Amino acid sequence: MIEKAIEILKSAKSLFTLTGAGISAESGIPTFRGADGLWKNYSATDLATPQAFRKNPKMVWEWYHWRQGIISKAEPNPAHYALVALEKKMERFLLLTQNVDNLHRRAGSKNILELHGNIFRTRCLACGEIADYEKPPKPANSTLPKCTCGGLLRPDVIWFGEAIPQNIWQNSLDFLSQADAALICGTSGTVWPAAAIPEIAQHSDTKIIEINLEPTPVSSIVDVSIQDKAGEILPKIVAALSQ
Ligand code: APR
Repeated sequence: MIEKAIEILKSAKSLFTLTGAGISAESGIPTFRGADGLWKNYSATDLATPQAFRKNPKMVWEWYHWRQGIISKAEPNPAHYALVALEKKMERFLLLTQNVDNLHRRAGSKNILELHGNIFRTRCLACGEIADYEKPPKPANSTLPKCTCGGLLRPDVIWFGEAIPQNIWQNSLDFLSQADAALICGTSGTVWPAAAIPEIAQHSDTKIIEINLEPTPVSSIVDVSIQDKAGEILPKIVAALSQ
């Protein structure tokens, strides 16, 4: 299967890449639905919905400060760096990530669209200002982050039940419609609308490569389904493309 993936990428001029939490797993960042996934141990509805934030902003901020702490100590892994190398080889490349961990940017990827936002940005509930948010206030669980306008800040991420940024989604679809190949990496394919990408790609005759530790709902419709670690497979593919 890896040879078939290499053939597809060798002849591709335009590559659409979708990533999920699995590409950051080898950086030590827990996924959401794997064996020790976050949603196995925490309640998504208590922590990642607008209602949860309205009801208990302190608990939600403690959760995001905890995740920021884990992510701040994490480093991009070989899978992230392989995508940076792949971007340089392609005439046209778009990376749509569902991840909010900023690791693609830290690894050096350029053409990134963050479908679910970024955990190191905040949005003010009063004035709507978007700002970088690197360091939680010390002690993290004592005060709620406030905007310079006095309004309460929330993480600039997309919670369950919230609309994704339409411009990002439309730009992704526009790019996908002309892509020769699509690489779907480290996502369980269970959260919409990102889960629709493989089927959309299939309709526009785009060759689809999936890399995931285990089968997903789209493994049967993609052209190549590689069940292995992204941090092992992607560097091998990129090395073969460099020969
Ligand atoms: N290499 C490749 N795939 C991996 C690896 C790895 N090293 N480790 C785990 N995976 C796969 C798992 O098999 C799983 O299919 O990554 C996938 C992670 O799936 P999820 O935890 O559901 O993460 P994701 O698909 O990104 O979730 C989508 O759900 O909770 C919301 O907003 C959150 O963006 C997230 C969205």
